[in-house]
Amino acid sequence: MSARLEVVALPSEQRFGAGDDLAAALLQAATDAGVELRDGDVVCVASKVVSLVEDATRPLPAGDARQARRRLARETAARIVADTPGVLVTETPHGFVCANGGIDASNVPGERVALLLPTDPDASAERLRAEVTRRTGRQVGIVVTDTFGRPWRLGQTEVALGVAGTAALRDERGATDLDGRSLEVTEAAIADEVAGAADLVRDKGSGTPFVLVRGLPAGRPGTGRDLLRPADQDAFRAGGPTAAEFAVASRRTVRRFDPARPVPQTAVRAAVAAAMTAPAPHHTRPWRFLQLRADTRQRLLDAMARRWREDLTADGVPASVVARRLARSDAVLREAPVLLAPFVVLDGAHHYPDPRRTTAERDLFVLSGGAALQNLQVVLAAHGLGAAWISSTAFCAPTVREVLGLEASWQPLGMVALGHPAAAPAPRGTVDVDEVLLER
Ligand SMILES: Cc1cc2nc3c(=O)[nH]c(=O)nc-3n(C[C@H](O)[C@H](O)[C@H](O)COP(=O)(O)O)c2cc1C
Repeated sequence: MSARLEVVALPSEQRFGAGDDLAAALLQAATDAGVELRDGDVVCVASKVVSLVEDATRPLPAGDARQARRRLARETAARIVADTPGVLVTETPHGFVCANGGIDASNVPGERVALLLPTDPDASAERLRAEVTRRTGRQVGIVVTDTFGRPWRLGQTEVALGVAGTAALRDERGATDLDGRSLEVTEAAIADEVAGAADLVRDKGSGTPFVLVRGLPAGRPGTGRDLLRPADQDAFRAGGPTAAEFAVASRRTVRRFDPARPVPQTAVRAAVAAAMTAPAPHHTRPWRFLQLRADTRQRLLDAMARRWREDLTADGVPASVVARRLARSDAVLREAPVLLAPFVVLDGAHHYPDPRRTTAERDLFVLSGGAALQNLQVVLAAHGLGAAWISSTAFCAPTVREVLGLEASWQPLGMVALGHPAAAPAPRGTVDVDEVLLER
């Protein structure tokens, strides 16, 4: 007979709580479904009921429930993997990488209670396995399952958190396919596949804490831990070169912002922290970023506009053209949700008696400012923010220093207007590296 698998939902109307007898509930659900357990059967158990029985709950702090859950996920995380407005992906202390630390708040008895993942899902699975075997004499396997998203594919699937008495991975190294080629994929995540199969018959609305999977080929018993990828085999942990290239390429000059979307100060601080990793001459930290309050912004932009109008008028530029250029600049600098005025301070510069070396020394500090501003904008882009680096202050340094009360050693580097982009930027054109990478 060809291979065949039976997957049977074992519903239960029990409202689970701390200290409940999970083995008794499982055996009762099997009896109610008319199923008698056999050797080799595997029962998938929703991690939620395991957490309830083990009392893995925490009071949710006051405030917005979603935010509170996110905060709790952050506090309990071993590592933050991705922190975006839409999703917080963390690595839990167990080593699971999932959204919001796997913390659940739905269908939990009592208000404002968060349900954490079981502390040790393998131990939970093993306890339940031993207890079921003790009461029935049957050798069954247990898989504790939960619903996780996947980074490369849409939709969630059920995965195995804890495994006992059944296979976790099936090692296929050395096996050959029909054509005699050795198999490239060397390990099958059997317990995850079993968890996924179980989910197909689960009715989340009415509660199906247990699902029986019958007919699995026998395999070497494993644990949920077997399915965790060791850090040194995680090619994406540090992103790899392509991630860095992607991050750099995703910085685009954005000149129009969505006024309705506030800029999180955490993103501004993360971007400034990245700016501070730029290289700088003589081990200095010469960068300064003034985040302009509304009143300061207005005073500074008014004074700069006067200076610019005078310059252009003296150049003989017609008044209508001057007005148009000022209006174009205002549209960015006065409307941006956040305006930063970056500087380098030349306090740490070496002194030279001649203008040639003095100018070169100043240029090096300004270059370091450019590197810092690039870092800043790359990290802003990674936070979904757009920025425009506008020359502005560089052309009227004395005016800027006077309005802001800065010493002569502060060298303005333009301004950075930032916010959520009003529209997605046009795609970048292709580049020809040979245009700029030359050999001499
Ligand atoms: C030092 C510096 C000064 C700049 N000044 C201005 C400016 O005054 N106004 C402006 O609209 N863009 C300014 N830009 C942005 C460039 O025009 C922008 O980088 C260019 O359009 C390429 O687009 P991208 O940044 O999306 O690749 C400046 C860029 C740099 C590096």
